Amino acid sequence: MDKVSEILLNRRTIRKYSAEPVEESLLNDLLNKACRASTTGNMQVYSIIITRNEEKKRELAPLHFNQKMVTEAPVVLTFCADFNRFIKWCILRGAEPGYDNFLSFMTASIDALLAAQTFCIAAEAKGLGICYLGTTTYMAHKIISVLNLPKGVVPVTTVTLGWPQEKPEQVDRLPLEAIIHQESYSDYTAEQIGKFYSEKEERNDSLQFMKENNKETLAQVFTDVRYKKADNVYFSNMFLQVLKDQGFMNQ
Ligand SMILES: Cc1cc2nc3c(=O)[nH]c(=O)nc-3n(C[C@H](O)[C@H](O)[C@H](O)COP(=O)(O)O)c2cc1C
Repeated sequence: MDKVSEILLNRRTIRKYSAEPVEESLLNDLLNKACRASTTGNMQVYSIIITRNEEKKRELAPLHFNQKMVTEAPVVLTFCADFNRFIKWCILRGAEPGYDNFLSFMTASIDALLAAQTFCIAAEAKGLGICYLGTTTYMAHKIISVLNLPKGVVPVTTVTLGWPQEKPEQVDRLPLEAIIHQESYSDYTAEQIGKFYSEKEERNDSLQFMKENNKETLAQVFTDVRYKKADNVYFSNMFLQVLKDQGFMNQ
């Protein structure tokens, strides 16, 4: 198998890291590769905040619900949608920016996420381990304050990085036929849903999850425990407020 295929097919999220530091030159090499990712109109409307400082990590940790990777990983990277830099350039060059809207936030988020994922693949290719943190969008308002993010900048994801100190089992994926549609979307019948999710539902870890949480189905573990409506609505409203405060919802 070629090296790229091997990296892509054998990867897994790493949540435990050794104490070994990540060299500055290696980190810069990965960041350079990340910044070669495709970017809307070659505008590069994203920024990446590097956190290595222990005190800063301790400040960030509660905002990521105290997930231990934040303080244990040698490097924490916050990927931000960022129109601030580009807007400043426009204004300084007599151009009138029109980026204070939701579409521009989406554009900048997509740019930031493409850079993040490219960074992760580059890191994994060097034998490093990464973990994304979805808590970034939940607690964006507080992360903005800790990282001193100005108007026009919104954190969209965080990646913890370090040398792996674990090799967990790979987790399952849906079969490819569940994900792929030929030429146009073909909606799912109940029978297909049953077929596509059956492997996931029958796994021992899924059965264990259901038992531990006293739920009859695996889907209920998601809806009632892991990603609850009340939480989604609460964090969704907070994030919409962040977009307003950061100047992305003016039109
Ligand atoms: C946007 C995003 C947010 C995530 N947030 C978290 C997180 O907060 N904590 C965590 O432990 N893993 C997090 N993950 C990792 C996923 O749980 C993991 O990718 C998924 O279970 C599949 O496992 P694998 O990456 O090992 O294949 C996140 C992944 C993504 C893409």
